[in-house]
Amino acid sequence: MKTIIEPFRIKSVEPLRMTTPEERLEFLKEADWNLFRIPARHILIDLLTDSGTGAMSSEQWAGIMRGDESYAGAESWFRFEARVRELTGFKHIIPTHQGRAAERILFASLGVAGKVVLSNTHFDTTRANVEAAGGEAIDIPVAEALHPGLEHPFKGNIDLEALERQLAERGSSVACVIVTITNNSGGGQPASMENLRLASEICHRHEIPFYLDACRFAENAFFIKLREKGYSERSVESIAQEIFSFADGATFSAKKDGLANIGGFLAGNDDTLARNEQELLILTEGFPTYGGLAGRDLEAIAVGLKEVVDEDYLRYRLASVRYLGEGLVRHGIPIIQPPGGHAVYLDAGSFLPHIPPRELPGQALACAFYELGGVRGVEIGTLMFGGKDPKTGEERVAPLELLRLAVPRRVYTQSHVDYVVEVAGEVAAKSHELRGFKIVEESQHLRHFTARLQRL
Ligand code: F0G
Repeated sequence: MKTIIEPFRIKSVEPLRMTTPEERLEFLKEADWNLFRIPARHILIDLLTDSGTGAMSSEQWAGIMRGDESYAGAESWFRFEARVRELTGFKHIIPTHQGRAAERILFASLGVAGKVVLSNTHFDTTRANVEAAGGEAIDIPVAEALHPGLEHPFKGNIDLEALERQLAERGSSVACVIVTITNNSGGGQPASMENLRLASEICHRHEIPFYLDACRFAENAFFIKLREKGYSERSVESIAQEIFSFADGATFSAKKDGLANIGGFLAGNDDTLARNEQELLILTEGFPTYGGLAGRDLEAIAVGLKEVVDEDYLRYRLASVRYLGEGLVRHGIPIIQPPGGHAVYLDAGSFLPHIPPRELPGQALACAFYELGGVRGVEIGTLMFGGKDPKTGEERVAPLELLRLAVPRRVYTQSHVDYVVEVAGEVAAKSHELRGFKIVEESQHLRHFTARLQRL
C-alpha cells in the first residue's frame, strides 16, 4: 500500500474552537502582533511548536497511574534511568524539568564564562544559556544549510573544516562543542552519522568535550536510516545508540522525542562534572532521582523513549511533515528543502522581498497565517535571533528569515494538514499586501516570547 496512515486510532478527543478572520485581527491587535500572547483557545491549528504538545499513548497514560511519587529512589526513577541508559549508554543521568534546565546546568558546570561554545546551530534557549553564563555561542553549520532551496540529505551537519580551524586557533578557550540533532534553527535538518563521528574525533583530538543537543534524536536516526549508506537495514534503536556513542554527554528535552508533555535530562560520562551538575540540580531543580519532575512524568518519558523509535511511527511522522511541505510548495511558497523532521520552514525572506529583515518578514507571514486561517506558527529570524549583540552592542539580523510550522506528535490528522495547505493558498494570494513590523518593547534575553510589535 502506498498510503502512509496515522499508525494509531483516537481514544480521547479535544474540541477545536472556530473563530472568524475579523475576530482574529482583533486578537492580533490585543496581542501587539505577538502570537505567543494569544490565548490558545483562539487558535485553530497550533503549529507554534512540537514541544510538549504531543498526544500521549494509552501506555503512557497507564504509566502516569503507575507513577511512584517517593521523594528519593522512586520506582519511576529507576525505570526512567534504565531506559535512558539503554538508549544512550551514558554513565550519569540527571533528570531535569525540561531541556533548557539541562543546558543551564551544563554550561554553568563546564564554566563557559569567557569561553566559546561551537555548534552546527545553537537553538535559541541554548544560545541564551551560553550567553547568560558569560560565554560566546558560535554557529558553524555546513555551507549548504544557508541555501534554503538547495536539496541536500544532511543540511544539519556541522562544518568540519571550520571546526578543525576554530579548535586549532582557540584551543582550550573552547568550552565544548554541541551538535543539535536534528538542527532545529537550521530547518529541522539531520546530521549524518559520518559527520557526527568525524566531529567527535576532531573534538577528542583537541581534548574538547563533544555534546549532543539530542531533542530530536529519533527523527535524526530515521533520516540516517533512510538516507545514509550502510544504515537501511539497521534498527533505529541501534542507530540512535551509535549516535550517542560518539558523545561525551547530551542535553535532552523530553517534550520532543520523549513523546512527553514535560521533562528532560542531562547526561554524561565525566564523574567530577556530574557531581557539580548534581549539586546545581539539587539547588534549583530537585533531588537527583526526580530533578523537578513528578514520578508520573518520569514514567511517561520512559515509555515515550521506547515508542519513539518505532519505525511505523517515524515513517508516518516524517511523511506527514513532508506532506505539509509539498502542499506549501504547490502554492508557490519557498521552503527550506527538504522538509525537516518536525517542521516545515517557510522562507519568508525570499517570499516577501518587499519586507526587509529589520521589518521582520517571518513575523509578517506568521501573522498572515493566523489572521487568514487561525494557524499559529513561529518566526525564526530576526525577531528571535536579532537584538543587540552582547559583545559589540550591534543590532544583529538573522542569516535567514523563516516561519516555522511545527507539527505536534500524534495530534493532527491529514485533513488538518489539508486545511493548513488551503490557508497557505490564501496567504500566497495576498502576499504582496503583507506589511512588516517595528519592535516597540523587548526584553534582554529571548525577546520573541514577550516583545510587543507595531505594524508598519
Ligand atoms: N534544544 C532544541 C534543539 C530545542 O528545539 C529546544 C526547544 C530546546 C533545546 C529547549 O528545550 O523547551 O524543553 O527547554 N525547542 C522548542 C521549540 C521550544 O519550539 O522548538 P525545552
